[in-house]
Amino acid sequence: MLNKLNVESVDVKGKRVLVRCDFNVPLNDKQEITDETRIVAALPTIQYLVNNGAKVILCSHMGKPKGNPVPELSLAPVAKRLSEKLGKEVVFAADDNVVGDNAKAAVAAMNEGDVVLLQNTRYRAEETKNVEAFSKELASLADLFVNDAFGTAHRAHCSNVGVTEYIKPAVAGYLIEKEIKFLGNAVNSPVRPLVAILGGSKVSSKISVIENLLKKVDKLIIGGGMAYTFFAAQGKTTGTSLLEPDYIEYAKKMLDEAGDKLVLPVDTVIAEKFDNDAPSKVVEGNIPDGWMGLDIGPKSIENFKAVLADAKTVVWNGPMGVFEMSNFAKGTNEIAALLAELDATTVIGGGDSVAAVNKAGLGDKMSHISTGGGASMEFLEGKDLPGIVALTDAE
Ligand code: 3PG
Repeated sequence: MLNKLNVESVDVKGKRVLVRCDFNVPLNDKQEITDETRIVAALPTIQYLVNNGAKVILCSHMGKPKGNPVPELSLAPVAKRLSEKLGKEVVFAADDNVVGDNAKAAVAAMNEGDVVLLQNTRYRAEETKNVEAFSKELASLADLFVNDAFGTAHRAHCSNVGVTEYIKPAVAGYLIEKEIKFLGNAVNSPVRPLVAILGGSKVSSKISVIENLLKKVDKLIIGGGMAYTFFAAQGKTTGTSLLEPDYIEYAKKMLDEAGDKLVLPVDTVIAEKFDNDAPSKVVEGNIPDGWMGLDIGPKSIENFKAVLADAKTVVWNGPMGVFEMSNFAKGTNEIAALLAELDATTVIGGGDSVAAVNKAGLGDKMSHISTGGGASMEFLEGKDLPGIVALTDAE
């Protein structure tokens, strides 16, 4: 449960409302948006504010311009796409200093229901350092603050944390509420059995997630490149597979402590090199010299399916293999297809697993797909997210 005020707990009519969104969307080299998920996810809050007569001032970062007005990272394409989605003009305030003459004039000219989008907040070097002066500048534009940028909630920057010192109340938008509801229920009050599936390449980047989830789940399935460090901990050879030698001892400890809670692959699709067309085969147990594991094998898929069959809550983060290559995508795709059919709450926790689910066209079959990569990861690690902590507590 999110114990914070939300957009419905304040009167927004006629108020200038600064809304922090996460419009950090992927662009191609023509500055065209290639995935609008985060824009679509922000619409319910924006639409609610428009419908209720607020003057809606949107802000976000895009990429990492490091305090420079990098033209390729302008939010102009987002303003255009948002206008199309909302069916109304979104005025883009193209100030390199974000809170500049354009922004001030645009805000001064607003009527109820109007929408203005500020320039990329990371054009200002102060943003990522959470410097008071820029937080104050942002706050000076508005009467109320809404944070709906779940994807940025693990950062403590001016536009999501600093600004809350100067505009009160600071309330949560619908997207943040939804993310916390699904991710929070899944790990803190799940309908059981709760099964987590972790994949991706590195054990080192998932240690805190593994430790936090092992305390909460009924089963923890591990696949992807990180499984090979666990193979090594089991005494298996791993050929030229991804391996983190420094984490083998850690993996051994996890195996001892977790017992049969931890479910590992029993077979592997291996290839001679990291190439979709490289010769490949399935092996059980040891991976021979000169071969690398690129996907889980058919027996592992069946084992994982058996573990998932009676799950009532599933959290998935990280692919089972190199799903970007068609010959090594089967493990990931089969898990995605199974989750799509499962009579369970299915929560996809950001990053590559979201890309995999969407690539398989199964996005709308999942209960919730998180818009947060790093943010959902830190949530699964059990950490407090500064962007959420900073919001005004509900009574
Ligand atoms: C993300 O894409 O994970 C968020 O927008 C945060 O971006 P950042 O990692 O550049 O802070």
